[in-house]
Amino acid sequence: MASIQLSGVEKWFGDLQVIKGIDLSIEDGEFVVFVGPSGCGKSTLLRIIAGLEDASKGSLTIGDNDVTGAVPSERGLAMVFQSYALYPHMNVAENIGFALKTAGIPQTEIRKRVNSVAGILKVENLLGRLPKQLSGGQRQRVAIGRAIVREPVGFLFDEPLSNLDAALRVNMRLEISRLHAQLGITTIYVTHDQVEAMTLADRIVVLEEGRVIQAGSPRELYNNPNSRFVAEFIGSPKMNLLPCTEKTGKIVFTSFAENKELRRVTNAKHLSSPSSAIVCLGIRPENIALCPEDKGHISGKVVLNEYLGSEQFVYIDCGFDDMVTARVKPDAEFQIGRLIGLSFDSEKIYMFDRNGDRL
Ligand SMILES: Nc1ncnc2c1ncn2[C@@H]1O[C@H](COP(=O)(O)OP(=O)(O)OP(=O)(O)O)[C@@H](O)[C@H]1O
Ligand SMILES: [Mg+2]
Repeated sequence: MASIQLSGVEKWFGDLQVIKGIDLSIEDGEFVVFVGPSGCGKSTLLRIIAGLEDASKGSLTIGDNDVTGAVPSERGLAMVFQSYALYPHMNVAENIGFALKTAGIPQTEIRKRVNSVAGILKVENLLGRLPKQLSGGQRQRVAIGRAIVREPVGFLFDEPLSNLDAALRVNMRLEISRLHAQLGITTIYVTHDQVEAMTLADRIVVLEEGRVIQAGSPRELYNNPNSRFVAEFIGSPKMNLLPCTEKTGKIVFTSFAENKELRRVTNAKHLSSPSSAIVCLGIRPENIALCPEDKGHISGKVVLNEYLGSEQFVYIDCGFDDMVTARVKPDAEFQIGRLIGLSFDSEKIYMFDRNGDRL
């Protein structure tokens, strides 16, 4: 196990800069998740850490060793990719033990380590099978086994679950969590799935266009996003973002399309002198209560009602470009077309300026 340090890491592909100066300290045993939209540089950064790609600038330390120019095999890291190509002609035991065999480790030792890994991953009864005789989830477990058996100081995962179906993904997510709790190996996990990020991470690093926008625990990012980007990215369904302006000390909602005034926020106390820089108010679906039409901060018409048994999401047209989502108790029914008031929890309101920065 080891800590991992990145200092001033940059990456250029020709004229294109895809990693724009990243400083990051990952603690020994920490589970860090890189999230961000497609193309933001997650895989590139992971490949730089793995040594599969050179950094154009900056340095990388693993434990006490500067590994900036080191080849992948000198870094002691194991990587699991989205496309986990197992050797088709080798059975599970041979696949898991392959790296040990090429490293010249004696057969008895290999057998011992493969059995131990198979026990951890619960594939003991599959050791004699070929990859084509396995399910997707079993194959992915073998791929992880191949990585664990090398006893790496760190694990790098690049979207390892995106080829699996939804139910299996949840299952494998739990297994990866359990594995981390059991082995305590420093882990960096790349995904664009914010649910995976929230459930797996000790710390989430949100990337946008090759920069770290915010890093923190899932709770910190959910409750205290530093920007509109993070606010929108973390949380499902997404935070509602409502265009608004300040007018004589009050917040006035506007519709993007017609620049039309909607009903004002009147009784949100700490909003009595909002900043003139405000252009957008964020509120999460669970912080909106539905009430009679004339009692809310804004009002709208129920468009859609998603009943999920333990909760329900009500989608309301309040005159904004996007519908407003409210998460409410499942017992009340909200008829489509009904006019309804939306009351915001004033403690849970986020405000953003033109640049998307939190005010
Ligand atoms: N070898 C390369 N040569 C040129 N450009 C590249 C190369 N590899 C990646 N890029 C570019 O670098 C940017 C970051 O790519 P990267 O694969 O790191 O994104 P990502 O965050 O992993 O995206 P995704 O979620 O789609 O996997 C992209 O714009 C991509 O086109
Ligand atoms: Mg990628």
